Amino acid sequence: MEKVVALTKRRGFIYPSSEIYGGMSGFYDYGPYGVALKRAIRELWWRHVVDLRDDVVGLESTLVMPSEVWAASGHLTNFVDPLRQCLGKCKKRWRADHVSGDKCPECGGPLTEPRLFNLMFKSHVGPLEDSSSEVYLRPETAQGMFVDFRNVLGSTRVRVPFGIAQQGRAFRNEITPGNFVFRLREFELMELEYFVKPGQDDESFRYWRDERMSWYVDVLGINRERLRFYDHPKESLSHYSKQTTDIEYEFPFGWGELEGIADRADYDLRVHQERSKTDLTYLDPETNERYLPWVIEPAVGVDRIAITILLDAYDEDVVNNEPRVVLHLHPNVAPVQVAVVPLSKKDELTAAAREVRSSLQGRFRIEYDQTGGSIGKRYRRQDEIGTPFCVTVDFETLEDKAVTIRQRDSTQQERVKIAGLADRLTELIG
Ligand code: GAP
Repeated sequence: MEKVVALTKRRGFIYPSSEIYGGMSGFYDYGPYGVALKRAIRELWWRHVVDLRDDVVGLESTLVMPSEVWAASGHLTNFVDPLRQCLGKCKKRWRADHVSGDKCPECGGPLTEPRLFNLMFKSHVGPLEDSSSEVYLRPETAQGMFVDFRNVLGSTRVRVPFGIAQQGRAFRNEITPGNFVFRLREFELMELEYFVKPGQDDESFRYWRDERMSWYVDVLGINRERLRFYDHPKESLSHYSKQTTDIEYEFPFGWGELEGIADRADYDLRVHQERSKTDLTYLDPETNERYLPWVIEPAVGVDRIAITILLDAYDEDVVNNEPRVVLHLHPNVAPVQVAVVPLSKKDELTAAAREVRSSLQGRFRIEYDQTGGSIGKRYRRQDEIGTPFCVTVDFETLEDKAVTIRQRDSTQQERVKIAGLADRLTELIG
């Protein structure tokens, strides 16, 4: 983990937030390559969950929502963790379920009895700071989909079974954020609420479990052996869930949740219907039956996928008798898919290399790398950020109108005519 954390900072993926002021625990910024990685993750999720299907539509609801929403959803009472504070020297706060005994794991001081701590960030809308103006930053995007359910039904042509998908920021005042971007206080969620007829939830639940697992393996290229399903026992289910399965990854700190797939039954639509006194039932146009749909929810954090991808891809090997650090990123998620590298800074070479770059721009995520040092050094830099292909422009290029494609994993090189370069790269990237 430390090696990956160091690499992400050194190479411009992830930085501590507000670092020059000492940083903030549980908050991270994404640098240029991190942004590209996150965008790729988001786009691939949207493509597979929304665009390539005809039964899912998108939504963007607000980050700030009134306290009634959270009272109805159960978050005001149930979205809590048990907190214990050290009364000794360090005054550290602990999640009660993360410590055993009554002594502080840090300084050995006595711990308070556990008390429940709500994880939502509270604020006020308008100048009056009283209970009538209380609002919360959303701890999940899901409630937006339930609150807008009637609007989507009434304004589109969706028919059960169908889904509403949303990507966006979520906020949780975690007592113990940590493991880098695994547990954050501000993070990005991607959630699908897939509505089905009551009684058809088990089948849909199984479908989404498998669908989501294949996405990690086939689309993101994550090692199947480091992924597993974990079925939650009844006693550890969230307040809204009938059944939940996590897709877990084998992190350096042990198996941990990557994505949760929950069967929320009709819990959310029911509680919002009751509290808002708004009819949220669905009228089946074929059978004329009226019912509250049940919902299957695959939910995952973008940051958690990002750290999973980076850890999964990190490797150290030896090339030409020299050790190298390499990220074996799948071309789908690599921040740079193709680096165009002129062999030297000579004008005629850089001009030819810029032309090659322009011919590829818009089709791939490209970087033009003419700066500093030997070609070997530049390859190493691209290996470290996970660039699967480098295209080298050399003096022969000026004669034969061909370039060399160098593959990151095998380091094999292949000579290709510039005229056929984009097609060859498309073939390689898939
Ligand atoms: N709407 C359901 C829901 O929010 P969750 O299991 O609490 O379920 C879903 O969160 C996913 O969000 C998790 O599987 C994880 O990928 C991500 N996630 C949850 N808490 C997080 C945190 N503090 N930091 C980063 N990602 C988090």
